[in-house]
Amino acid sequence: MKKLLAIALSIGLSLSLSLPLALGLCFTGGLSAQADSITEAELSEITAQWKPSAHALADVNCSSCHQANETKAFVEKPNYESCQNCHEAETDTFLLGKHGIRLLEGQSPLTPSKARLPMKPEAHGKQMNCNACHNVHSVDTYQASVDSCLTCHNDEHSLNYKNSKHSQLFLAEGNLERPSSSSVTCSTCHLQRESLDSGDNVLVNHNNTYNLKPRDRMASEVCMNCHGMEYSFNSIFDNELVNSNFSEPPKIHLKSFDMIRVLQKKREG
Ligand code: HEC
Ligand code: HEC
Ligand code: HEC
Ligand code: HEC
Ligand code: HEC
Ligand code: HEC
Repeated sequence: MKKLLAIALSIGLSLSLSLPLALGLCFTGGLSAQADSITEAELSEITAQWKPSAHALADVNCSSCHQANETKAFVEKPNYESCQNCHEAETDTFLLGKHGIRLLEGQSPLTPSKARLPMKPEAHGKQMNCNACHNVHSVDTYQASVDSCLTCHNDEHSLNYKNSKHSQLFLAEGNLERPSSSSVTCSTCHLQRESLDSGDNVLVNHNNTYNLKPRDRMASEVCMNCHGMEYSFNSIFDNELVNSNFSEPPKIHLKSFDMIRVLQKKREG
């Protein structure tokens, strides 16, 4: 028990002045609960993940998440409410989609065992929460945008993503800039970026149901950031293409675009 605290503090001391305090807060209160389950190696791994993260750079420390708001008690496994303190819009939208709605309604979290769609067998018991997609200590958005989804999703459309031009371009880029204007990941289409708060901030809409139906919403709010209107609509209403995750150009031609062309010609003529 004492050894763990010493380690925590020594890691802290070599990092910054605020960290020992942060770690101290975490581990003096929580030590008895932690002592049996957490090894020194795990603790230093967690610290190494956190150190280069956007959180560490913004002074979000261990205690920012591991301490209860009111009682200041140590929280061993924080849930979405700890994130909500600082990320209100992301949390509110998460709770409205299929992924989060059970939590909003006070039910147990969604798990793949409850799904209608095919899911990875080994993920059946995995609980949906912010940490289902985010490594909460590194908060690496690159890993969250494709790899995390594929720890659960196992249908043809999801698995075919890796064969698409979108995927090749994302892998070639090698990182996920914020905001990303060129990469197309699962999250580009399903967790779209938009102005969610009253400011000019572009944030990630975490409602994974929001732009599914009708499909023209995704066409105009996502695809048309990069493709023309006709290309976007012809692609998104092509069921085969959705199934192959857009791994070839569209084959269907929506008649309404031909009608628009005829009308336009008439008007011009
Ligand atoms: C952004 C919020 C956040 C920050 C910052 C954070 N943690 Fe965590 N931590 C969590 C969450 C959420 C969990 C629960 C994860 C889970 O259950 O998978 C967790 C889990 C843990 C666990 C494992 C608990 C267990 O019993 O499995 C340890 C140990 C831990 N954190 C230590 C730290 C240390 C040390 C720091 C600072 C270097 C830190 N955390 C910073 C959110 C955070
Ligand atoms: C004390 C406030 C605070 C808490 C609590 C907090 N965050 Fe953050 N978070 C920030 C700040 C500040 C940033 C960096 C500035 C920004 O991009 O918004 C950030 C950035 C992020 C990012 C973007 C990382 C990147 O590389 O761009 C993710 C993802 C994230 N947080 C997830 C979480 C999750 C999940 C939790 C809960 C487990 C959480 N945060 C808890 C304040 C917080
Ligand atoms: C912990 C497992 C898990 C992870 C991780 C996960 N999902 Fe899901 N997702 C589910 C389950 C379970 C459902 C419900 C499926 C059903 O009811 O058939 C679902 C449903 C969906 C739906 C359909 C929503 C609807 O209203 O029908 C979309 C779209 C989706 N997920 C996208 C994603 C994306 C994108 C990611 C990664 C950024 C992701 N998911 C990560 C488990 C997961
Ligand atoms: C289904 C997977 C998934 C879940 C669940 C999830 N996130 Fe995210 N989140 C992502 C992905 C992927 C990105 C990066 C998307 C991008 O940049 O295209 C992201 C980005 C973020 C960001 C940085 C971008 C921004 O809006 O500032 C924050 C903060 C964040 N998430 C917080 C949360 C919080 C809080 C929760 C829980 C309430 C949560 N996330 C749950 C997948 C998820
Ligand atoms: C270029 C945009 C795009 C990308 C990239 C993308 N999807 Fe989709 N996804 C769609 C469209 C369009 C649909 C069909 C929407 C509908 O019919 O409601 C869909 C449907 C889904 C569904 C719901 C299927 C159902 O039958 O209810 C899930 C789950 C899903 N996608 C997960 C993923 C995952 C996981 C990834 C990444 C591995 C991914 N998607 C990548 C556009 C995309
Ligand atoms: C961030 C920009 C961006 C977004 C958003 C985007 N795409 Fe793409 N898409 C591209 C790029 C770049 C290519 C590759 C073009 C090339 O190689 O000629 C591409 C290729 C395609 C292809 C052709 C694939 C092939 O193998 O030839 C289809 C179909 C496609 N996208 C459909 C969509 C649909 C549908 C959406 C919205 C659900 C969408 N895209 C969203 C940038 C984007």
